[in-house]
Amino acid sequence: MMKENIFLIGFMGAGKSSVARALVEQLHCPLVEMDEQIVKEQGMSINEIFEKYGEDRFREIESQLILALGSRQASVISCGGGVVVRPENTEYMKKSGRIVYLQASPQTVYDRVKNSNDRPILKGHMNVEYIAQLMEKRRALYEAAAELTVVTDGKSTKEIAGEIIGRLEENNEVQL
Ligand code: S3P
Repeated sequence: MMKENIFLIGFMGAGKSSVARALVEQLHCPLVEMDEQIVKEQGMSINEIFEKYGEDRFREIESQLILALGSRQASVISCGGGVVVRPENTEYMKKSGRIVYLQASPQTVYDRVKNSNDRPILKGHMNVEYIAQLMEKRRALYEAAAELTVVTDGKSTKEIAGEIIGRLEENNEVQL
């Protein structure tokens, strides 16, 4: 039984989506993949939203979705990597659940996203240096939001999910 939402935050390629899938298998609760939900609701890809309306509009849509999640059954929510750039999103997540930060090194992120074409933020900047710079800019925001931090470098999805459940169980946030 899960008492509250579990929000997975972290940089692109930190493993949020795959870890979220592993968590719902074990916790038997609904899964919300924020980017997928946005694509479904807007009827266009994340790239198209950025190209047509710009990043600010995407951030508004993202914030609206975060707010709308409050009325649902407790779920595992895989957030977009930039969700922490709006303080109101972090505030809201803190109120409605536990925030777990998946941390990965710039090299790990690069290895995981280098062939991806659907990350407009990295368009034209697909290299370790740029990833490291952007990660550094966001680091304080992820850290301030996080209740739990899990380093993901070199670990399997299963291991990471197990570590999260174990640590949340210690705090009596989940019961299996
Ligand atoms: C973004 C991360 C993406 C997606 C959008 C913006 C970011 O999500 O929301 O492209 O600003 O870091 P993933 O972290 O799932 O790739």
